Amino acid sequence: MSLTAASRVVIVGGTSGIGLAVAQAAAATGAQVVVGSRSEKSVKQALAVLPENATGHPVDVTDQASIAAFFDQLGTFDHLAYTAGDDLVRGLISEYDPEQAHRFFDVRLFRALDTVRLALPHMNPAGSITLTAGAAALHGGAGKLLGSTIGGAVITAARSLAAELAPIRVNAVAPGIVRTPLWSGLPEQARPEFFEMAAKGTLLGRVAEPEDVGQAFVALMAQDYLTGNLTVVDGGSVLR
Ligand SMILES: NC(=O)c1ccc[n+]([C@@H]2O[C@H](COP(=O)([O-])OP(=O)(O)OC[C@H]3O[C@@H](n4cnc5c(N)ncnc54)[C@H](OP(=O)(O)O)[C@@H]3O)[C@@H](O)[C@H]2O)c1
Repeated sequence: MSLTAASRVVIVGGTSGIGLAVAQAAAATGAQVVVGSRSEKSVKQALAVLPENATGHPVDVTDQASIAAFFDQLGTFDHLAYTAGDDLVRGLISEYDPEQAHRFFDVRLFRALDTVRLALPHMNPAGSITLTAGAAALHGGAGKLLGSTIGGAVITAARSLAAELAPIRVNAVAPGIVRTPLWSGLPEQARPEFFEMAAKGTLLGRVAEPEDVGQAFVALMAQDYLTGNLTVVDGGSVLR
């Protein structure tokens, strides 16, 4: 079933990068879109670039009361996309810090599952949930230990949830490297070289733009017979 003006799509982490692109792609279908993230300022900035069929509210997924209040004010909705993610951690096993690793898993996996739990009472049973994994889960790589491990866990979580929650459909998107503010932690001078190197690791010769990934989320929402599915949006980097 395609998204229509009657569809309601909620994007947790929808104020930047991939989530904002999901919001843009969903809003372009005419669907009613709700974005949420921690900062009131980010919500306002996102709404300034989204069309009028978008609204937004602050939500901090590390606070259960905040997630519950976010969903309570929305009423029933059809599709949930979870794209929240905080600072990136890259490093080798020799640099492994269990507490840092726990923090890195927290928003990307543990809070994603909590968000799903708290969203369910508000969801249309004919709707869908889409989680964010990462293509690193499929090929691993030195320095990608935590990112690849979380991605693998999210892929598996989506499959288990698909089995448990049917007829609600649950899928995951695994992006390769996407040009988003997530990489703003890299020194500004190092970023062009990083994206250039990453582009060489794809079959298509470029890194993903957020829109490439946003469209994949919306395709999963719109396709009624896809559940337990993984959509890899990596420009073919897994095959290099
Ligand atoms: N970019 C890539 O190359 C890439 C590749 C593979 C996978 N991914 C994964 O995709 C996800 C999204 O990444 P992105 O590149 O779109 O990053 P981004 O541009 O930094 O966006 C992250 C979003 O998460 C929100 N957020 C962070 N902590 C939150 C919290 N506690 N509660 C609610 N919202 C929170 C942020 O808004 P506030 O700061 O306002 O809260 C922001 O809207 C991440 O899990 C990332 O690991 C990204």
